[in-house]
Amino acid sequence: MKFSGYLFSLLCGLKLLFLVPARANDFSSFLSANASLAVVVDYEYMATHRQNIMAHFEKILSDIVRENMKNGGINVRYFTWNSIKIKKDFLAAITVADCENTWNFYKTTQRTSVLLIAITDSDCPRLPLNRALMIPMVDHGDEFPQIVLDAKVQGIFKWKAVVVLVDQSILESNPMLVKSIVHESTTNHIPPISVILYKINEKLRGQQKRAALREALAQFAPLKHELKRQNFLVISKFHEDIIEIAETLSMFHVNNQWMFFVLDELRRDFDANTVTINLDEGANIAFALNETVANCVDTLNCTITEVSMALVTSLSRMILEEQSIYGKISDEEWESIRFTKQEKQDEMLEYMKDYLKLNSKCASCARWRFETAITWGKSQENRKYRQAPTRTSKNRNFEFLNIGYWSPLLGFNCRELTFPHIEHHFRNITMDIVTVHNPPWQILTKDSRGVIVEHKGIVMEILKELSRALNFSYYLHEANSHEYQPSLIQGTNDSDELMGSMTYRIPYRVVELVQHNDYFMAAVAATIDEPHKKRFNYTQPISVQKYTFILRQPDEVSRIYLFMAPFTLETWGCLAGITLLTAPMLYAVNRLVPLQELQIKGLSTVKNCFWYIYGALLQQGGMYLPRADSGRLVVGFWWIVVIVLVTTYCGNLVAFLTFPKFQPGIDYLSQLFNHKEIKQYGLRNGTFFEKYVETTTRQEFKRFVESAAIYNTAQGENVEAVKHGDRINIDWRINLQLIVQQHFEVDKECRFALGKEDFVDEQIGLIVPSSSAYLHLINQHIDRLFRMGFIERWHKINLPSMDKCNVKNVQRQITNHKVNMDDMQGCFMVLLFGIIAALLITCFEFWYHRLVVVKRQRKNITFAN
Ligand SMILES: *[C@@H]1O[C@H](CO)[C@@H](O)[C@H](O)[C@H]1NC(C)=O
Ligand SMILES: *[C@@H]1O[C@H](CO)[C@@H](O)[C@H](O)[C@H]1NC(C)=O
Ligand SMILES: *[C@@H]1O[C@H](CO)[C@@H](O)[C@H](O)[C@H]1NC(C)=O
Ligand SMILES: *[C@@H]1O[C@H](CO)[C@@H](O)[C@H](O)[C@H]1NC(C)=O
Ligand SMILES: *[C@@H]1O[C@H](CO)[C@@H](O)[C@H](O)[C@H]1NC(C)=O
Ligand SMILES: *[C@@H]1O[C@H](CO)[C@@H](O)[C@H](O)[C@H]1NC(C)=O
Ligand SMILES: *[C@@H]1O[C@H](CO)[C@@H](O)[C@H](O)[C@H]1NC(C)=O
Ligand SMILES: *[C@@H]1O[C@H](CO)[C@@H](O)[C@H](O)[C@H]1NC(C)=O
Repeated sequence: MKFSGYLFSLLCGLKLLFLVPARANDFSSFLSANASLAVVVDYEYMATHRQNIMAHFEKILSDIVRENMKNGGINVRYFTWNSIKIKKDFLAAITVADCENTWNFYKTTQRTSVLLIAITDSDCPRLPLNRALMIPMVDHGDEFPQIVLDAKVQGIFKWKAVVVLVDQSILESNPMLVKSIVHESTTNHIPPISVILYKINEKLRGQQKRAALREALAQFAPLKHELKRQNFLVISKFHEDIIEIAETLSMFHVNNQWMFFVLDELRRDFDANTVTINLDEGANIAFALNETVANCVDTLNCTITEVSMALVTSLSRMILEEQSIYGKISDEEWESIRFTKQEKQDEMLEYMKDYLKLNSKCASCARWRFETAITWGKSQENRKYRQAPTRTSKNRNFEFLNIGYWSPLLGFNCRELTFPHIEHHFRNITMDIVTVHNPPWQILTKDSRGVIVEHKGIVMEILKELSRALNFSYYLHEANSHEYQPSLIQGTNDSDELMGSMTYRIPYRVVELVQHNDYFMAAVAATIDEPHKKRFNYTQPISVQKYTFILRQPDEVSRIYLFMAPFTLETWGCLAGITLLTAPMLYAVNRLVPLQELQIKGLSTVKNCFWYIYGALLQQGGMYLPRADSGRLVVGFWWIVVIVLVTTYCGNLVAFLTFPKFQPGIDYLSQLFNHKEIKQYGLRNGTFFEKYVETTTRQEFKRFVESAAIYNTAQGENVEAVKHGDRINIDWRINLQLIVQQHFEVDKECRFALGKEDFVDEQIGLIVPSSSAYLHLINQHIDRLFRMGFIERWHKINLPSMDKCNVKNVQRQITNHKVNMDDMQGCFMVLLFGIIAALLITCFEFWYHRLVVVKRQRKNITFAN
């Protein structure tokens, strides 16, 4: 069964595919054939309502057609069986049936594409708005389930979870309410929703009721720094109490959405502005007000009349339009431009809606107006237009906007989003933002008149991205930054200004402006320091900067003893030792061979053996080889030792040639005090480091700061002394890097070294006024920028690069290293030493000969005589 059904639908689908081009326009024009309409009144529905609706319908419709159909005609066919298959030459069908049958009928008519006008029960999910018109017969006072259903179908509340607070009596009189709140559907694309339902016991009075409400709401109160997204739907007489209690629990924040249905008794004197008088900016709150006309009759007869009237007038309007065009153009042109069935139906639906919106009396007795609060950034706008503070009973930060209405006839009819701030955030209003020039965080470029024409830098990039994400534009106000840069007031010249930046001292003017709550935020990089004592709030950190020190790069180790370097002193000693030891051994082995002819003449003295072993070491080779196996073993093993020694020496010599060795420098601050040659300590003025040291336990920091010269100017910084190795300075690593970079560009040589150690993490954030409702929102977006890697990228672009004079660069120098005099001097020294030694020995031999040998000869002669 299932399979054949599938096959059938597949075949149908195929057929539809093939038919599409041919169907382009096979629907006859109203001029050549009457439009046909099907009226379907469900038999069971008639039975339950105990009226002959069909008969009434026939009478009403024929009367209306007779009176209003002046042009052309209409063929109407009546059915009482709702599972009828309507043929595709019907333009439209009007049905009167219950919800389930209406939906079934809709599904069957979709195949033959018939426009459906359905009159049905209340609490029915609306048919797709562009393909059908559905009029639920909603009784007075029972409209909530239908409103909720329509809101879901029309996407008025895009909620995944909702907390519903509803009066007990309303829940009892609307049994369908909960069902419609949890309604989900695939045809209408309504995702499932999770609901927390809280029934308000109306019997409780006064304090008791408030306590109960507080207890219910407290579960949803925001935790300290976590503002979750929550949605609240309140259908209650006690909305004022709820607003008041929720306010004290600070539940009106930028992420929450509150929808209040204001019940009938209060409607007449309801003013959204008075109810929200105590709320802070940034809330998302909307009200639904009952605008139902009290004494309006809402019967089935009346609805049928209105619908028929709408249909007939729309049809005759369309026929009139066709006639007026047809007269003016040729048949071929007419064929190509006339409407297809679909287009006709769309147009008819529009005409009918227009007619009903204007003329409907009974079908839209029930009517709810929706108002939403426009609050985000309101205090900014108010500040601009504020002349004198006026005392009114209005909350100036709330402005209520009528976004549209709901009626059973057309469902929601809205011009605006219910909670516009959730999607559009600040709705493109202009914010005032205070800033100061402080590269590389804030770089402001001004024209000759002092107007900021360009702004960039890390903080400004973040601001630009925030304004895009939160949909606001901004106007930058520069706070006077004179006290920030003391060099400017003293009138000294540019060459004396320190390089790099600092964020610990926030200009006083910025703090003042932010405290007055006049500005949305201060786009100023500021060190986060004791956030709870400040009268403003920091955002989450956008950067972390660390301190280190700068000093002269340690010198290279002298290369005069380079040829000695491959072996340590002990190795050299051992080498001499084994040479001296092996020679006698060889002598002994050679001497003790059992057969005389195996003895070698050349090795017959210890001296000769020594020269032999020494010569082998220098690879001069030996003229003789022992003939006895014992001797060969000694010599053989000695050669192995020689090979290992020589290879190790040569290899190591190459390494020592290529990798320069440095004298031990200062990598960590604690090593500083062992170096007596560094006499001056320097520390930039106004750093967080200075403050940090007051509370730290690290002794070397304290000692450093005690003896440090605090400098304000480039002169005080005394980079030359650092270069000479007399001084050490502490500053941000990025500032020091800037100095290294600058000197590298001038000298083409690395003269400075930075400490290996980074100390004191200085966190840097932006500033918002202390009462700002948007701190959390800004933090959320900064967090997002971090995770997307934008902030890291802006750091890379704006901060000095760290690859000047670091290990990588040194290595590049090594590959190009040429052996120079520095490297070879030791070698030449050895040669020189050898020559001198040879000369000395020659002299000594000469003297010996003269003094000893000749004297002795002379003595012998005298003896002989
Ligand atoms: C509806 O209209 C028909 C015909 O106009 C009339 O006979 C019938 O009594 C009306 N029904 C009601 C409930 O008013
Ligand atoms: C079209 O409608 C008119 C008036 O309703 C009627 O007189 C005429 O017979 C109809 N034509 C056809 C082809 O049904
Ligand atoms: C809306 O107002 C009408 C007329 O005042 C009233 O009949 C109806 O019960 C009200 N609706 C609700 C849900 O209170
Ligand atoms: C920004 O706000 C305006 C005004 O409400 C709105 O038209 C626009 O779509 C919003 N833009 C974004 C990206 O949300
Ligand atoms: C936002 O406002 C700015 C200036 O007020 C305007 O130039 C821009 O077109 C607006 N953007 C939108 C989407 O409304
Ligand atoms: C800048 O100041 C230094 C010392 O303070 C001085 O020697 C130099 O001449 C000044 N240069 C200019 C352009 O004023
Ligand atoms: C904002 O600053 C106030 C003090 O001005 C402090 O009490 C509050 O905790 C701060 N808020 C946040 C989220 O840090
Ligand atoms: C002295 O001369 C004689 C021969 O003239 C020689 O035999 C002897 O060894 C010499 N003595 C010394 C101490 O040289």
